[in-house]
Amino acid sequence: MGSVNVALLGFGTVGSGVYELIEREQKRLSESLSGSINIVAVLVKDDSIKRNVPNDVLVTSNIDDILAQPVDVVVDAIVGVEPAFTYLCKAIDQGCHIITANKEMFAYKGFELKEKAKEHRVAVHYEATVAGGVPVIRTISQLISVNKVVHVEAILNGTSNYILSEMRNKQIDLNTALQGAQQLGYAEADPTNDIEGFDAFYKAVILAELVTEERVNFNRVFRHGITALKQEDVVNQSLKGHRAKHIVTLTIEQGEVNVTVEPRWVTTEHPLYDVEGVNNGVLITSQYNGQLKLEGPGAGKLPTASVVVEDLVHIFRHEPKIVVN
Ligand code: NDP
Ligand code: HSE
Repeated sequence: MGSVNVALLGFGTVGSGVYELIEREQKRLSESLSGSINIVAVLVKDDSIKRNVPNDVLVTSNIDDILAQPVDVVVDAIVGVEPAFTYLCKAIDQGCHIITANKEMFAYKGFELKEKAKEHRVAVHYEATVAGGVPVIRTISQLISVNKVVHVEAILNGTSNYILSEMRNKQIDLNTALQGAQQLGYAEADPTNDIEGFDAFYKAVILAELVTEERVNFNRVFRHGITALKQEDVVNQSLKGHRAKHIVTLTIEQGEVNVTVEPRWVTTEHPLYDVEGVNNGVLITSQYNGQLKLEGPGAGKLPTASVVVEDLVHIFRHEPKIVVN
């Protein structure tokens, strides 16, 4: 294959994790791809801060300087719709493949980005946008090549699940538990996104668009976060066998999708009852395959970096026939 040049947009929890993982697994990756992966440039907001990369890696806050490098793949690990969307469009215009972890951007602009990528015959991969290290996009993409997905029920925000588990197990309040999630790199830059359900909402939209191949009307999605839950209820209800879980539900009937994002009380019989801490759990019901359950780390540096690097390998294993999810 030859070598692949990668530019990283963002060097926070996810971006630095991707850098670290590629460095750590360079031998395995080179064997798998018959060529090396080189990180040639890193985009950050504040380029006056020294980053832990060699001197020959360009570190800048200017996207044009990044795209002036010989880049094959751009990995988006920055925050929010803009400037990420504009940067990725520029990269596609230049013939770069795209991998993104930025779910807010992808919920709003994923449809357009996929169309644009098709026109330019480049790949767009976005496994890290939903459920951290759990390969839910790949699984659903495979299923819908044969089946209709009719129902998805899932815990998709690791921070909320971690907070609810900590509130119950350690009897601490929401804010104290949130601080723990922030220290562990699970929370969004603005954690309101986690606790008010916006992050799970973006992920629900991405899954709904994948399953139906139609745009979702955001106004028709019912969204609530976990902030209205009282700590005493979380503890007392657990004594009666009820756990609070923040659950996304997609119901697909006659091509129409109904999406809800809300906290619910589940009992021991429910397959998401035991999904604890930062883990995410995803139940996917499809026409011929019945119910599948996926569970694993829903946030954090290395699980997320792992699925980003898996996307990278996927692109070049499938060359020259590029697959756009
Ligand atoms: P961080 O806040 O840790 O890092 C964000 C990085 O992006 C920083 O390096 C920051 O630069 C850079 N950045 C932000 N805005 C801009 C901008 N306008 N121009 C240039 N650089 C910018 O975030 P995370 O790494 O946690 O998350 C990154 C993305 O991945 C987000 O979209 C998030 O939703 C998503 N994600 C996060 C997961 C997680 O577990 N944390 C899991 C899956 C997805 P600087 O360093 O100078 O501040
Ligand atoms: N803040 C997100 C979460 C990161 O806690 O699930 C993973 O998308």
